[in-house]
Amino acid sequence: MKRMVKRLLVGTKRWLTEEPPQPEKPIPFDNSYEWIGQAFRQILADPVGGRYRSYAWGVLQGASLAKVLGHRSISVVEFGVAGGSGLVSLERIAELGEQKTAVGIDVYGFDTGKGLPKPKDHRDVPYMWEEGDFSMDEAALRSRLKQAQLKLGLIEQTVPEFLRTDFAPVAFISIDVDLYSAAKQALTLLDADQTKLLPRVFCYFDDIMGYGYNDFTGEWLAIHEFNAEHTMHKLSPIYGLKWFVPQEFSNDRWIEMLQLAHLFDHPSYGMIDHAHHHPVLDVDGRWRWQD
Ligand SMILES: C[S@@+](CC[C@H](N)C(=O)[O-])C[C@H]1O[C@@H](n2cnc3c(N)ncnc32)[C@H](O)[C@@H]1O
Repeated sequence: MKRMVKRLLVGTKRWLTEEPPQPEKPIPFDNSYEWIGQAFRQILADPVGGRYRSYAWGVLQGASLAKVLGHRSISVVEFGVAGGSGLVSLERIAELGEQKTAVGIDVYGFDTGKGLPKPKDHRDVPYMWEEGDFSMDEAALRSRLKQAQLKLGLIEQTVPEFLRTDFAPVAFISIDVDLYSAAKQALTLLDADQTKLLPRVFCYFDDIMGYGYNDFTGEWLAIHEFNAEHTMHKLSPIYGLKWFVPQEFSNDRWIEMLQLAHLFDHPSYGMIDHAHHHPVLDVDGRWRWQD
């Protein structure tokens, strides 16, 4: 009995003297994997923003890159919207990303508005996709969106139209259109005037992992053709990214579905891209390097 009382007293003392768990110390903004990792965890705690981890990572990388390069706003784009759960999540991620970086983030979603077009040939993986798959309830989706802009119609038409408009530099693109033909057209966004692109654009490809995906059809073929057709613009995997995301996510599949578009001839390609050494806007409106 005495021993029980003693144990109870020791336990109570420990409970009274133990420090309560401390909130995580904020990491100062630095376009580093540490900062991105912390911001990523915070976005993942949001019920809507947390649904698309790949989007959260891509948007944070894009927005933080934009910030150190001195941009005040960026565009993030989803190709393939369907019912809109990805776009709604992207919009929320953009909202949270804006709060964290003070970079404005415009959101665009491209879709036919009526599901998949008919696969044209074997390159569109016809044994997997059928015309009309993934339809959209446009009115219902619009009622859930706050700022995201829907670009409805075939990407073959809507992307060239979009390229003729003004938009903030594209920092993140999600390609989730299933078909080779649509992915190939979506990638023409990377041929935009370079004032409308960051020098490195984070790209997520949804349909490149698992059964049937190969180098000769679908989104992989579009990636390979993009690289073959461009000498100074290349899509590349981000090697070893699993070692740089917070450890608890290192086995996630989306990590291998992110690529980086390098635009080697972009005027800002060689600009130092970490915050220790970034340009600030002077009173006369010119960029100057900060020590
Ligand atoms: C798998 S769904 C997208 C799902 C969505 N990203 C999500 O996570 O909620 C694929 C979409 O790509 C769209 N799509 C495919 N080819 C297209 C094309 N050529 N032009 C426009 N949209 C296209 C289809 O309309 C379809 O809704």
